[in-house]
Amino acid sequence: MNAQTAFMETDFTQLLVSNVESAADANQRALTNTVISPRFYTTDFAAMDKLDVSSVRQEWDLMMLEYEGDNNHDHFQRDAEFAQEVKTLMSKLDENLKQEFYDFLISSLTSEFSGCILYNEVRKNVSNPDIKKLMTYMARDESRHAGFLNSSLKDFNFGIDLGELKKSKSYTFFRPKFIFYATYLSEKIGYARYITIFRQLERHPDKRFHPIFRWFERWCNDEFRHGESFALIMRANPKLLQGVNVWWIRFFLVAVYATMYVRDHTRPALHDAMGFQSTAYDFEVFRITSEISRQVFPILLDIDHPQFKVSLDKLTALSMAMSIAKAQGGLINTIKKGYYALSAAIEFGKLYFIPVIESKLPNQVRLQPTW
Ligand SMILES: [Fe+2]
Ligand SMILES: [Fe+2]
Repeated sequence: MNAQTAFMETDFTQLLVSNVESAADANQRALTNTVISPRFYTTDFAAMDKLDVSSVRQEWDLMMLEYEGDNNHDHFQRDAEFAQEVKTLMSKLDENLKQEFYDFLISSLTSEFSGCILYNEVRKNVSNPDIKKLMTYMARDESRHAGFLNSSLKDFNFGIDLGELKKSKSYTFFRPKFIFYATYLSEKIGYARYITIFRQLERHPDKRFHPIFRWFERWCNDEFRHGESFALIMRANPKLLQGVNVWWIRFFLVAVYATMYVRDHTRPALHDAMGFQSTAYDFEVFRITSEISRQVFPILLDIDHPQFKVSLDKLTALSMAMSIAKAQGGLINTIKKGYYALSAAIEFGKLYFIPVIESKLPNQVRLQPTW
C-alpha cells in the first residue's frame, strides 16, 4: 500500500481513541514522546560556558537592554472578560474541535516548558555572564508563557503538573550547535505561528473561539527576541554557519518544517475554525520563517519547489497511517509500521535533497518583528 492509498483509507475517527477527558489524560499526553510531539532537551553546559559573543557586542547589549526593560511584565494576566469568554465561546464548539484545541494547548505548553527547563539548566550550569544573563531572561519569559497556557488548561480541569512533567519526561541530548539550530528555528517558527493566527483573528474576530488568542501579539514578540539571541550567538561564531554545518542546518530546516506540517495536519478542525486551511497556514508560517532566517542561515529551503509539498503530504499520510497501525496493534500492523517508517525515511531524503536557495548573510543581524 503506498502512502496516498493509506491516506485515502484512513479512518480519522480512529485517531481520536485517545481523547483528553481528564487531567490524567492531559498529563499523559504531555509526557508521551512521539515523532511529532515537543521534546525536552539537555546539552553540553561546559561548551555553552565557553561561548563568546564579543564580535556582536553592540547588537547583543541592545538586546539585553530590551530583555531588562521587560515590556511584557504585565502582559500574562487575564483580564475581566477572559473567564466569561471561555464559557460563552467554548460552549458552542463541537467535541472534535475541543479535542484539537486541548491538543494545541498541551503541545504548546510542553514546548514552552521545554524552553523554560533548558534555559534554566543552562543558567544554573554556566558562569559566563553573557550566557547566564540571557538564559535567566529567556527562562523568565518561557515560564510566564507556560503558566499562562496552563491556566487555560486548568479552566477545563486539565492542568499539567509541571514538577512531575519535568521529573518524568525523557530528555534528548543535543550538542550546543544542534540546540542553536533547532531552538533558533522553533523560536522563530513560534513567532510566525502566533502572529499569523493573531493577524487572521484580527481580521475575523468572529472566529476567535478562545480569548487566549488575544494575547498572541505581544507574546510572540518574546519568541521573536529569543530567536534573535540565538541568531547573534551563531553569527558571533561563524564556523557554525559554514562547511559541513550547512548540511546540518539544512537537516534541521527540513526536520522542523516537516514536523510542524505533519502535526498541524492532525488538527484540521482547529484551523478551519480560525478560517484557515492547515496547508495554507503552514506555508504562510514557512514563508515568514524563511524570510526571517536570512539573518543567520546561508541557505533557505525552496518551499515553492513542486516536490516540497508533495513530500510533505506523503509524510503526513504516512504518519497518520502509522498512528492507526500502532493503535490497532498485531503482527500485520507491525509489518505495516516498518514499511511506513521506511517510506517516511525515503520521503524525508527526497525533501532533504531538493536544491536549496543560497542566501548572503546581512551585515546587521537584528530584525524587528514587523509581520
Ligand atoms: Fe515562549
Ligand atoms: Fe521562546
